Formats: sequence, structure tokens, C-alpha cells
Amino acid sequence: MSFLEELERRRTFGIISHPDAGKTTLTEKLLLFGGAIKEAGAVKNNKIKKGATSDFMEIERQRGISVATSVLAFIYKDKKINILDTPGHKDFAEDTFRTLTAVDSVIVVIDVAKGVEAQTEKLVEVCRMRKIPIIVFINKMDREGKDAFDLLDEVEQKLGLRVTPLSFPIGMGYDFKGIYNIWEEKLNLFSADNKQTISEGIQFSDLDNPELDEIIGETAANTLREELELIYEVYPKFNQEEYLNADLQPVFFGSALNNFGVKELLDCFTEIAPTPQPKMSDIRLVDSKEEKLTGFVFKIHANMDPKHRDRLAFVKIVSGTFKRNAPYLHVRNNKKMKFSSPNAFFAEKKEIVDESFPGDIVGLHDTGNFKIGDTLTEGEILNFKGIPSFSPEHFRYVNNADPMKSKQLQKGLSQLMDEGVAQLFTLEMNGRKVIGTVGALQYEVIQYRLEHEYGAKCSYENLPMHKVCWVDPDDEKSEEFKEFKRVKQRYLAKDKHGKLVFFADSGFTIQMTQSKYPSVKLHFVSEFE
Ligand code: G4P
Repeated sequence: MSFLEELERRRTFGIISHPDAGKTTLTEKLLLFGGAIKEAGAVKNNKIKKGATSDFMEIERQRGISVATSVLAFIYKDKKINILDTPGHKDFAEDTFRTLTAVDSVIVVIDVAKGVEAQTEKLVEVCRMRKIPIIVFINKMDREGKDAFDLLDEVEQKLGLRVTPLSFPIGMGYDFKGIYNIWEEKLNLFSADNKQTISEGIQFSDLDNPELDEIIGETAANTLREELELIYEVYPKFNQEEYLNADLQPVFFGSALNNFGVKELLDCFTEIAPTPQPKMSDIRLVDSKEEKLTGFVFKIHANMDPKHRDRLAFVKIVSGTFKRNAPYLHVRNNKKMKFSSPNAFFAEKKEIVDESFPGDIVGLHDTGNFKIGDTLTEGEILNFKGIPSFSPEHFRYVNNADPMKSKQLQKGLSQLMDEGVAQLFTLEMNGRKVIGTVGALQYEVIQYRLEHEYGAKCSYENLPMHKVCWVDPDDEKSEEFKEFKRVKQRYLAKDKHGKLVFFADSGFTIQMTQSKYPSVKLHFVSEFE
């Protein structure tokens, strides 16, 4: 197969949802279709069970599982599908945000009874910001839930999407009869008895056909006719270009657990979802069709074995072919590197491969050379953009609890930060170190890993701050900026890249500061234009 054929057949995406909406179940059913697993229950649940949220042993166990499920790949209808795992737990939201920099599209799973939930809102907002094409899957139709039209409204309102249903449910819960597949003009019947079997559906282009009444009953048939009429009137017609530009989001209904509506989703997905997309770097747009290799690290996973402190760096290939043992430039270190055992992912296994193509993820063994965001090229000096840090919401001073081990502590902290476990800030005034995280869980993870992997001990002191803002003055030499720095001295720090940040103790402080120093912009994200 030629390079371009390899590229055209790849679909790299992430599934996002609020915990419990059915992401794991859907992933598993997709893998079943791809023949990548043989039976349900094979994909280990990669979520932190309720009630175990402060148990770091549980987190350690999860880390082991999540290496295996970081990338799940399979072939379906000759397409190479790469699913990138995104933790649903909110304390790991930053990890998910970063993974979203490596996907070309996403599927959002929504629970029909719960509707749009908090975590979904946050994640979809990031997707919208990045103009990532989205397909919505409304799950658990076998249960009583919200009215389909109300849900579509909710998705539009809360998620800010412009939807077009490509399938529509016939009843729900106890009365769930199936779906009408608008995309393929087919009727798919649901029966509690043949739950796990997949039918091809009945071709039904003309809904006025009285056969419809015979099959689903007169009342249901009339309701469906009315509802579909409304859909055709109210919602925009599907248009692939609009979907690819993230201006239109198709919606499917189904039940992942019952394997219902999943095939329709996958069939449509493989047809419409984007092939590997171009990516912006600091100097130019890199096209996936370029023959020279470029790629970037979006995730680093520490090995489970503390004796060998090696890590796996996950590289998304943007352009070109990644070849085993070929020399590549690690741009930040300005160093040529060769990789003798790059891992590719297939279903739940990883294996050494000779070649990988745009859209693929390769796992590179790393002894501490990589940081999240690092770029690999064949020699060109460029850095991919769009792997920002987001403002943490929890802050603690970190202190050394074992003075004999200060070097170990430094090294451990630095490596954990490279992995993206949390963010480290150094206060300008006194040089004290502050760890910022999205959730409280990470503090336990850090303490535990410092001790077990680096032999260092730390203690924390709470720092009651609201957010950290990246400081962006219009003019670094202006009097206003000088005054800002003087007055706010106690609250200024540097992030790991040496960028200036401002610690704000409340949203009000941010507002006041912004109005007092209008030429000094404050951002919640580390990358800004
Ligand atoms: P997540 O990864 O998004 O967190 O969700 P997951 O797939 O683990 O699903 C959460 C729960 O919802 C699971 O039940 C799962 O079986 C159930 N579920 C998923 N899809 C459907 C569906 O279409 N219909 C119905 N009725 N339930 C569905 P659980 O009891 O929490 O877990 P388990 O013990 O079944 O694993």
C-alpha cells in the first residue's frame, strides 16, 4: 500500500463522556466489530471506581491498565481505526485535554437519562475551541430517559453545537422499538431477546409505505412519520464539509450495552470522519501528506516497574512515515535520536513495528528525554502548537520532607511534571515551589510516586488560590506593566517554561486586576496568540 493509501485509511479519534455515560462499553463494542476482541468484558475498565477516589493504590492499578488502553486500534472495512483513551474522571481532565490535541475527531457519549453533564460540557468546549469534528451518540435508549427532541435541544444549548440527527429512536425504555437510520434510510428493530445480535436493518426509504405500520404498529409508525417530518424541517441537512469544519454535528441514538445502533454509528463514522489532519507549528502548517516525518509527544507514561525508570512517550505522527532505527531530530534538545523498538498499538496489545503512518501513535521508550509537547522531525526546526497547559484549580506549596534527599526530590518533581501529572510554579519573591493540579487526587499520586520511584519525601501546605493566569503584557516596557509587577509581586511566579504567571485568589481579583491594568492581559491557558 502506498503512503497516501495508508494515510487515507486512518481514522484517529477519542471518545469523550461524563463518567458512566457508557464510554467503556461503546469502546468495547467498537472493538468487537473490528474483530479486535472476541467477547464483551475484555476491555478492562479504566475508570476509577466510585468510593475509591482517594485510594492511590487504586490509581497505581489504574495506571497499569491505562497503558494498555491508551491506544486501541483495529481494522474495520479496511480502515485503520485508532481510538485514543481519554480518562473521564475530572481530576485527570488535563490528561484528556492533551489527548484531544492528538485526535482528528471525537465521539461524545451522552446518557439519555442524564443528558448533558458537567464533564461533557468542559470537554466539548475544548473540542469546539479546536474545531474538532464531533459526532454525538445518545446512549442507553433501552432505559427511560429524556425526550429525544428535548435532548437535541439540550445538546445544542449546553454544548453550543448545531446538530443534525442521523438516526432517531422509536420509543424508549420499556417501549423502545428501535431506531430509524436516517443516514442509510433503514429501519433497525430492537428486541430484548436478540439483544446481542446485529441485524442489517430493513431498507425503508419511503416511510409512507404501510408496511411500516405492520412492523412497528400504527401508533408508533405515525409518531415516527411526524417526528421525522419535524426533523427534516427543523434540523439542517447533513453536509460532510460542515461536519469536518466543526460547524455541524451528527447525532446517533442507541444502546451500547445492547450493541444497538453501534454498527450504524461505526459505518457512518468510517465514511465521514476525517483522515489525519494538518497541524499548525510555530513556523508553518504541516500537511499530513508531506513525506518527511513530523510528530509530537502528547502523553508520557511512567513504567510500572520502579526498578527501571523508563517511560513510554506517546507520539502522534503528523506527517511522513515513522521508521524504526531512522534518525530523528528531537527539536527541543537539538539532538538526533534513533528508536530501535517503537511500539505500535493494536487492540490491547502493543508490538514493535517497522513503520507507522500519519494518524498513528507510536510508543517510544524514554529514559527522561521527552516532555509533553516535544516535536520530532527529520531535521527541520519546528514545534507543534496547541498543547497548552490549563489553569489548575488546586494549589499547594511543596516542601522537602527529607533534607538528605533534596536532589531526588528535584529530579522526581521535574520528571513527574514532564509527564504532565501536575504543574510546578516557582514564586518570584522567595523561590518557593507550588504544585498546581486540576484535582486533589494528583497530590497523593505525586507523594506516592516520589517516594516509591525516587526515594524522596515531600509534604504540602495549602495555598488558597483560585486560579493561575498567564500574564501577557501589550508592552513589556510600559509603566503600567512595571507597576503591575511591583504591586502584584507577591503573587507572581514562573511556570515550567519560565513564563510569568499571576496567582489570583478569586474571580473578583482577576476582574479588578484586569480593569486596573488593561494593557496586561491575563489568560487561563498557557498558549495564546
Ligand atoms: P464510562 O466508561 O463512560 O464510565 O461508562 P461504562 O461504559 O463503564 O458504563 C457505565 C454503566 O452503564 C455500566 O454499568 C454499563 O453497563 C452501563 N451501560 C452502558 N451502556 C448502556 C446501555 O446502553 N444501556 C444500559 N441500560 N446500560 C448501559 P455498571 O453497572 O456501572 O457497570 P458494570 O458493572 O455493568 O460494568
